[in-house]
Amino acid sequence: MFFINQLRKDGIQIIVTRFANKMKSFFISNLEVKLPVIQGGMGVGVSLSGLAAAVANEGGIGVISCAGLGLIYHNSQGDYPTKSMFGLKEEIQKARVKSKGIIGVNIMVVLTNYADMVKTSIAEKVDVIFSGAGLPLDLPSFLTKDSKTKLVPIVSSPRAAKIICEKWKMNYNYLPDAIVVEGPKAGGHLGFKADQLDDEQYALEHLVPEVIKITQLYQNEKNIPVIAAGGISSGQDIYDLIKMGASGVQMGTLFVTTTECDASDTFKNVF
Ligand SMILES: Cc1cc2nc3c(=O)[nH]c(=O)nc-3n(C[C@H](O)[C@H](O)[C@H](O)COP(=O)(O)O)c2cc1C
Repeated sequence: MFFINQLRKDGIQIIVTRFANKMKSFFISNLEVKLPVIQGGMGVGVSLSGLAAAVANEGGIGVISCAGLGLIYHNSQGDYPTKSMFGLKEEIQKARVKSKGIIGVNIMVVLTNYADMVKTSIAEKVDVIFSGAGLPLDLPSFLTKDSKTKLVPIVSSPRAAKIICEKWKMNYNYLPDAIVVEGPKAGGHLGFKADQLDDEQYALEHLVPEVIKITQLYQNEKNIPVIAAGGISSGQDIYDLIKMGASGVQMGTLFVTTTECDASDTFKNVF
């Protein structure tokens, strides 16, 4: 309880600056991420422009989640897909006003308005698209000639990482700009079964080196940094994963109870 109170009082700064002097920047293509912390996209109003801008202002990547934007912007004009596109534009623009840092968008493949959300993000020149909850096999097809948006799939296995790299290369002559690997302890719904939670074979510490091996198959063509996610909650966790070869970490749960998080106070207190 003390931990939650303390985070809420001091906000994002306490999370990131506590570790900042030990962490190195890394690059997602030509984009330098000064603080190797990505705030995971959290749906239905948990990570919007407020949280994303706060993390981006500290040098990490702040991420707006697309899930449920049409519900949050229910008072705007049109049907659900139209409200969602309007909401996404609004949130990206609000984040840009609050921060000059790196702003990303999280778009789950399972969303019925996936294509709308990807096209809107690219048109709004968002810095990075993170996409998981399914294999984002056609994501590069949405890039336009002049777009600079980086594409980062989220996977839970080295097999998925390999399939995405192979298909993107074959179909679009494009490789991921980074890969997020989420282990079984990640917050939110994942495809892991209960008995896999404590199985070493599925542990994040096992998955990270395996996904790095996949990215190394392409090292002559592109540097693909690997970002570790799931159950990371301390500076020691971050340090250990970076020592293992991860370029950065993605965290969700730890940001939920901060003052900057966009969820309601009721949600934060329950959380
Ligand atoms: C409340 C909540 C909502 C989430 N919503 C999404 C989402 O919309 N899309 C997604 O890809 N991941 C989602 N996630 C996963 C996070 O982006 C992140 O990868 C994960 O939380 C990392 O693990 P951690 O919570 O242990 O730090 C969610 C996580 C939480 C806790």
